[in-house]
This record gives sequence, C-alpha cells and structure tokens, in this order.
Amino acid sequence: MCGIVGYAGKNQAAPVILEGLAKLEYRGYDSAGMAVVNGDKIQITKSVGRLKVLEELTHGGATMPGTVGIGHTRWATHGAPSDANSHPHYNAQETIAVVHNGIIENYLPLKEKLVSKGYQFTSDTDTEVVAQLMDYYYKGNPLEAIIKVMHRVQGSYALGIVFADHPDEVFAVRKDSPLITGQNEEGCFIASDVPAILKYTRKVFFIENQEIVHLKADGMHFYTIDEEEIEKEPVTIEWDADAAEKGGYEHFMLKEMYEQPKTVTDTLMPRLKNNDIVIDELNMSDEDIRAIKKIHIVACGSAYHTGVTAKYVIEGIARIPVEVDVASEFRYRNPILEEGAMVVVISQSGETADTLAALRESQALGYKVLGIVNVVGSSIAREADNVMYTWAGPEIAVATTKAYSAQLIALYLLALKFARVRGKLDDKTFHEMIEDLKRLPGQIEMLLSNKERIQRFANRYVAAKDVFFIGRGIDYAISMEGSLKLKEISYIHSEAYAAGELKHGTISLIEEGTLVAAVATQDTLFQKTLSNMVEVKARGAFVLAVTNEGNTDIEKAADYVIYIPKTNSYFTNSLAIIPLQLFGYYVAVGKGCDVDKPRNLAKSVTVE
Ligand code: M6R
Repeated sequence: MCGIVGYAGKNQAAPVILEGLAKLEYRGYDSAGMAVVNGDKIQITKSVGRLKVLEELTHGGATMPGTVGIGHTRWATHGAPSDANSHPHYNAQETIAVVHNGIIENYLPLKEKLVSKGYQFTSDTDTEVVAQLMDYYYKGNPLEAIIKVMHRVQGSYALGIVFADHPDEVFAVRKDSPLITGQNEEGCFIASDVPAILKYTRKVFFIENQEIVHLKADGMHFYTIDEEEIEKEPVTIEWDADAAEKGGYEHFMLKEMYEQPKTVTDTLMPRLKNNDIVIDELNMSDEDIRAIKKIHIVACGSAYHTGVTAKYVIEGIARIPVEVDVASEFRYRNPILEEGAMVVVISQSGETADTLAALRESQALGYKVLGIVNVVGSSIAREADNVMYTWAGPEIAVATTKAYSAQLIALYLLALKFARVRGKLDDKTFHEMIEDLKRLPGQIEMLLSNKERIQRFANRYVAAKDVFFIGRGIDYAISMEGSLKLKEISYIHSEAYAAGELKHGTISLIEEGTLVAAVATQDTLFQKTLSNMVEVKARGAFVLAVTNEGNTDIEKAADYVIYIPKTNSYFTNSLAIIPLQLFGYYVAVGKGCDVDKPRNLAKSVTVE
C-alpha cells in the first residue's frame, strides 16, 4: 500500500528519494514526505497531496541538503490523509524519524502505555507509535532499539528509520510488507519495490521477514532479529527501467493494455514444447496430477475473476472440481481441504495480504500451494511451494490489464495440462486448442486496433449513473472483470450479474437508457443470454453486446455490438475483456479521472 524509499550515499539524498517515490506512487498517493539527516539534525518535510506537492515544497529536493534520508508515499489506513498523519513520523526531539508501510495492530495499547509515560502524540497513525517506542528504547545503539521495537509491535511493517546521532546510516526492517535493497558505487538504497531503484542497480536483495538491514554509503549489513549478521545473495532483475515508464502513452493503463499481446506470448510460448505443454515449475509428476481430487483457487479482485474463469475451464476440460474463494473470506472460513486437494493462489503483486494469509493457512493445514504470480521475488512467490510466473513485466496502473491476461493464460495452460494427463482430451482437440492459444496475441492486437470505435461509444456514457454487465458461465466471469474495470477507474456504479439471475431482483433497477453490457461468447448459452437481453431491452435498457464474429442474430436484441474473433469457447475471456477494458478506460478518460491512480485505491494491497 504505501511506498518507502531510503538512501545513504555520496549524492544529495532528497532528489534520489523523490525520484524513487515517483516510481512507487502507484502504491499510495494521498500524501508524501521525506526525512533527511543534515549534520546532527533531521529535517522533515511532508504534506497531504500527491508527490508533486512535496516536490514543489522542497524545490525538487533542493531545500533538503544531506546525503542520507528516507521517504514515503502514503495510502491512508489509520488517520485521514493530512499533513499531521503523513510520514515520516518522529519523536518529540526530532532525533528519530520513521517511515512505515503496513499496519501496527497493537498500536492502541502501545500508545496508551507511552502516553502514561509522558509521550505526546501529534497524529492518528499507528506509525507514530513506532517512532515514539523507538525513542523509548533508544540508548545510542540503533540495532538494539529496533530489535526491542520488533519484539513489541504486532502486525505488518516495512520500516525505514534514521537517527540524528547516526547521521551516515539508514536502518530498515520488514515483517509481512515488502522491502528490497540495492547498492551501486554512489550509495545504498532501500525501497518497497524494484522500480524505485532500478535506475541505479539491477542487483537487488530481498529482505526476509524480521530481517534488519543497515545501510551506509559504502555498503550494507544484514541482521536477524537475534542480532546475528547474515549474508545475502542478490537477485538480478531482468527487465529494464523503461518497462516501468509510460513510453509515450497517455497512461500506464493504456500502455499496459497494448502490451497484452506480448504478455500473452511471453506467458504462453516458453511452456509450449514439442507439441506439448511443459510446466516444469509445477513440480508435479503425471501421477501427482492424476491424484488431484479438487482444486481450491484463492485470490482477490481481478485475480479472483481469473479464478472464476478457471473454474469453468478446468472443470469443463479436465473434469476436476474447482472451488474459488475470495482470499479475505477463505482465510477466516475454516476451509475444509480434503485429501488430494490442491491449492492455487493467484496474485499479480505477490504481496496481497489476504492472499498471502490464505497461502499460509493452506500450508498450515498441510497442503502444498501453487502460486501464479507476476512479481518475481515477491512474498507469495517466495512462500508458495511452487511458482508459475506470469511474465507480464511491471504493471504500474492500479487497474490491472496485462497481468490479468497473463493469469488467464497460465490457468488455461494448467487446465490443458491436467486434462491431457488425465486423458480427458484427445490429441486432435488438444492440438487445436493449442493452436487457438497461439492465435490469441494476434487477435488481441486486432481488437486493440479498434480502440477508436470503443472510445466513441464510451464518450456517450461518461455521465452514466449505473451500468450492468451480464453473462452466463465464462461470460459471467468476463462480466465481473468488465464491471470492476469500469467502476474502479471511472467511479460509475456498475454490477456484474449472472444473466439469468437479474430477474430475481436487480432488473428493477433498469430504467430508460440504463446501459447493460451483455457478454455472449458461449455458443451453448447464446440463446439464453439473448433472452435476457430482450428482457432488459423491454424495460428500456440500452444493450451493448460482446459476442463472437458471425453471431449476427444478436443485432435483434442489441443496440450496439462488438464482435470478437473466433477462438475456442474456453478462451473467449482473453478476447472479450479487451473491448471492456477499453470501454472502462475511455469512460474514465472522458470523465477526466486519474486513470492510473484512482481514488482510494493502491496497486498492492498489503493490508487486510
Ligand atoms: O496483486 P494482486 O493480483 O493480488 O491484486 C489483487 C487485487 O487487489 C487487484 O486485482 C485489484 O482488484 C485491481 N485493482 C483490479 O484492477
């Protein structure tokens, strides 16, 4: 959720920190701040608002001299966005400053204790408790105080800390919130995510839970919570800094939508070998695959929607029962995982707190977990028993597009692999389906090239109040994602409904002119969905239909039709979602919304 950056080096710290924070703003953007050690003082500047406010306040960092510092971009949890609640937080003497990503769950009892000892608080945040507690324990040895604090606080945290009397040093520590470090000849860096430091180094060190890192200009040291020094090996990041830049596009979201043909190719092709599907990362023998009795898919948001699609695909072609859960429900519902169950968690960021907790819950119950993850080295990638990466590269826009498309491909591959091994697909069908998969990138490209038509249509709906998305089977899963794309970036209320369910209540919301987007790509369900379209049209709805090329019958019931190229009915999500992504995007652009950074949201949801 929040983003943190720290630097100890030979150059002025503030501009380096600002630059790093700009790359992390997708993690939170309601306020920002920096603390720079200057001589024996810590200078702090922070403000509610976007990072550009902080840039202006500090003249690009010029007003904050000093070569050691920490910075923060916030997504508010405890305390509304305000100057006082912005990070860094500090002790009364302003000799210790802290930036924090995560939630300190026991901050209230800790705060009470500190208040009873005379501490005064100036914010509503949980983080200020860390700064004051650090002050309470600090007797001149930073490592000692940090460890004492770690023993007292509960919850999740990535912390960057500076001490005025250790002016050349930055300390950082993590538990259940991401933290990486890196080094070059100019200094050492900490950050919540790789893009913040990629300009400086490709070799990054992933900090594990309850590890502490101590940075100076000329190097860094890693410690356990028992104060034992440890060695760490760097991981080389393959993608370059340009991958996390807009590259001439108006928004990251548009750029990322355009990257989908490549993303699909990159996730698909390395796993197609000699006319077969090879997923080495599964680490499952054919015998293991034949022994699967049930698959539990657990994820959040759009990743959950790919799981819903996968249920139809895996059950349809591999005939394995699939249960799909929203991670925040799964983790607390005391799930029953029977013998032979396989757990799959799906996450772009690999840091989603609820998904990570579901993974841990499953492991605690004795089950192996497969993670379908985009971010290499993320917490889920490291904790899952096996990891299947979606090779989508960095995704910056809060609304996911290319990672969603890559997740679908990974899930289709699993379904096909399982079906093949379990003897549910004959050779001919299997090879035809692989050919269909290989055609998807070109077909996606074709749909993207039609963007102006969708844009013109979207412009008519910038003032819409409610939009409904309906479909059956896989089309229902597509509707869920289409609806989320629209609402999260345009703030227009929208709902996805199983088309047959609408008449059980929700149809009463349809008024003259209400937009209903009907997805009808499943041949076996086509006539049924068509009837539901007629029902809403009869009540005044304006019907937008997304269907397969050739289904011209739909024009009788729809006011506007978008045709998608022919593919296997199990793969239509990959195509039908493209016009719906474009629709959501252009409605939001038409309304003047901040597409890449929608209000109240953050890219990586590291709190529950
Ligand atoms: O990083 P994850 O895939 O675990 O994130 C899950 C959801 O938070 C994410 O898909 C969210 O719903 C997006 N805003 C959707 O565009």
